[in-house]
Amino acid sequence: MEIKICLVFIAFFMLTDFSVANDKWEKSLPVIIDVDGDFDDFIAIIYALKSKELDVRGITYQGDGWSNAASAQNIVDIVDDIYPGKNLPVILGADYSLYETDKNPDSLGTPGCLYQKTVPAGAGGKRDQDLLYGLNRQLRLSKRIWYNAIKGFNITKDYANLIDSTIKQTGKKPTIIMTGPATNIATLLRAFPNYTAKIDKVFWMSGALDVPGNLFSLPNNTHAEFNVFFDCVAAQELLASNLDITLIPLDYTSKTPLNIAFFDKLSKLKSFYGIFIYKLLSMIRSTWFGGDTAFFTRYYLWDPTAISVVKNIGVAKIVSNRSLAVTCKGDPNYDGQFVSSKILTNSNFRVTTDAYVSNPIDSSPFFQDFLKVINYD
Ligand SMILES: *[C@@H]1O[C@H](CO)[C@@H](O)[C@H](O)[C@H]1NC(C)=O
Ligand SMILES: *[C@@H]1O[C@H](CO)[C@@H](O)[C@H](O)[C@H]1NC(C)=O
Ligand SMILES: *[C@@H]1O[C@H](CO)[C@@H](O)[C@H](O)[C@H]1NC(C)=O
Ligand SMILES: *[C@@H]1O[C@H](CO)[C@@H](O)[C@H](O)[C@H]1NC(C)=O
Repeated sequence: MEIKICLVFIAFFMLTDFSVANDKWEKSLPVIIDVDGDFDDFIAIIYALKSKELDVRGITYQGDGWSNAASAQNIVDIVDDIYPGKNLPVILGADYSLYETDKNPDSLGTPGCLYQKTVPAGAGGKRDQDLLYGLNRQLRLSKRIWYNAIKGFNITKDYANLIDSTIKQTGKKPTIIMTGPATNIATLLRAFPNYTAKIDKVFWMSGALDVPGNLFSLPNNTHAEFNVFFDCVAAQELLASNLDITLIPLDYTSKTPLNIAFFDKLSKLKSFYGIFIYKLLSMIRSTWFGGDTAFFTRYYLWDPTAISVVKNIGVAKIVSNRSLAVTCKGDPNYDGQFVSSKILTNSNFRVTTDAYVSNPIDSSPFFQDFLKVINYD
């Protein structure tokens, strides 16, 4: 009798061990995350680093979005804590949009110019994003000082090296998850057009198709979304490439709104990053202009929802839509909008449309996975 039980146990353990190892091999997708340092970019990085389906190979950063380049230190602190000892590349990319640098190649454009000036400098804008409302002091600080790494920094070379080393080390082409403007990838492709052959897929949180845009600081432009708007030249060049691109627009991200029940669940998490994200989102909520009613209809976990789409855990319906183009003529009131086009994109271009949601909304697959993953310690 005893022997039999013992055998059953051995068989059971062998079986589970095998399936875990197999799982890891099957699911670990090498990804590069390209961010612009808004609050939800940091939350997306934490979610991705903690997701077993994803093998994060490096983070590229652009200073022409929502925060200043120096806040890349926050990313270093997070990656060195979650992936200790790996020295994960955190690479500084473009500081100005291609529209600006093409016009003023010597001055590298002017900071705060045409598109950038829509980002507030103070409350809720760059200052708060850079410091994560002061909560960045509560991160587990890394000994690695990001600033030392910018000497000799060159996005073209560094991005290409990161792609090459990913292929060498994993035997797979990386998937690129973009949660900011398209400047870095467009810059890479200008120098090395054939690197499209070394990229598996691109997922980009950006755009507003059949819903209003989000340029609250430029109300004349009702259709643009910030990530496209900040660099419409780069967006056009990305679409003109032959990459495999999946767009995650506001149409999709607004289908999983936050609510009080979600905050209640988040407040109960005990992990370091569960507590950190609860504090950060609570700070954003409490300082939101217009209070809870406005917050719950305007603030979304945009970039984390993009991570969940890449994880392919049954959250999204994706349709092919190669009949879209981006407006870009140097007029902020008009640029950065997705419009329908008669010319088909070269890229294998798709759009996530419907999110699979549950009733109540905070039990939806995305929220369930997000809360579970950030609660791992
Ligand atoms: C950056 O790297 C690329 C590719 O190696 C090279 O062509 C370019 O000259 C470099 N730029 C600078 C400013 O060094
Ligand atoms: C890309 O083109 C360059 C020349 O411009 C060549 O040296 C390189 O081998 C090519 N790489 C691939 C992946 O085709
Ligand atoms: C918005 O549009 C109005 C009316 O066309 C114009 O007078 C105003 O200057 C525009 N605002 C900006 C910031 O361009
Ligand atoms: C493709 O985009 C156009 C323009 O926004 C839209 O009218 C159309 O419904 C979209 N088709 C799909 C399948 O999403």
